[in-house]
Amino acid sequence: MTIAIVSAMREELAAVLEGIEHGETDHIAGREFRRGRLHGHEVVAVLARIGKVAAAATATVLAERYRVDAIVFTGVAGGLAPGVQRGDVVVADEFLQHDMDASPLFPRFEAPLYGRARFPTEPRWSERLAEAVKRALPNAVLHRGLVVSGDRFVSSAAESRALRNALPDALAVEMEGAAIAQVCLDYGLAYAAVRTVSDRADDEAHGDFQKFVEETASRHSAAIIRALLT
Ligand code: ADE
Repeated sequence: MTIAIVSAMREELAAVLEGIEHGETDHIAGREFRRGRLHGHEVVAVLARIGKVAAAATATVLAERYRVDAIVFTGVAGGLAPGVQRGDVVVADEFLQHDMDASPLFPRFEAPLYGRARFPTEPRWSERLAEAVKRALPNAVLHRGLVVSGDRFVSSAAESRALRNALPDALAVEMEGAAIAQVCLDYGLAYAAVRTVSDRADDEAHGDFQKFVEETASRHSAAIIRALLT
């Protein structure tokens, strides 16, 4: 079984990449796919880059070229729901593209011709990931539920309020997860995703995000992935 481990940015995956043994690197579509063993498992780890298109392209390579059995995404997100604070962790049960709007042809948020706005993660992998978070970060508050994705860094209180009003059950916002969920549905691939909350998607989001990715994100990812694989 091969497990893909994906982040958007180097700061989110650096410590995981360092831990891969007997690694070989393939260069495909401008990305480095690092193959090898991690905590006794066959893995391929890759930086998708930021945004939905970059994430979808990466997931497609993982499905087509590597025939991976599961994709696990680890990274950071902005907290949206009132109780989702910096340092909390969110394991996604489903994803939605908050910037998808083909109305009036299709209802707002619905992915055209899919007949759905929400794309589920795989329940067993998500449960395993949530258990891994509890072991890796026992003091962190863990949330489960809807994560929304879009090609915007949400960095004002007004914008995050608008998202909360439109999608009251959204826990957190990021820029890749829903795209990977859609590709995984297309290919019948298992998908699970964990996001540590780096900021509140408000007027302080930019500074909070920078500080969190520099100081904490990679360490959290490595701890969670280690707990998942051991
Ligand atoms: N990832 C982390 N913080 C984010 C934010 N505020 N908006 C979009 N993606 C994010």
